Amino acid sequence: PKITYVAADDGERTVDVPVGTSVMRGAVSNGVPGIVAQCGGNAQCATCHVYVDPDRYGALPPMSDHEDAMLDTTACPRRETSRLSCQLKADADFEGLTVTTPERQR
Ligand code: FES
Repeated sequence: PKITYVAADDGERTVDVPVGTSVMRGAVSNGVPGIVAQCGGNAQCATCHVYVDPDRYGALPPMSDHEDAMLDTTACPRRETSRLSCQLKADADFEGLTVTTPERQR
């Protein structure tokens, strides 16, 4: 599915992320700025924090209690639409999804 990453200060990029690949990995492998992903996708660092398009947030796979707790440790404030992008594995329903990266990740 095509996912659009909107950076706080650097425009937006749309990437075709393969099914089964995380929104974080789709960004990192395509040089999309704004996602640090220090822990490599293990839900341990919270530097892959994104704000999901509010219209799509409710349709995403639910977060685990662990992700929920980690979202309380992000560098930029948590919002209603915050997720850890490493915990969002792309499937066909992600087509056209937009995520915004916070101003800083750590
Ligand atoms: Fe570390 Fe997502 S990459 S929490």
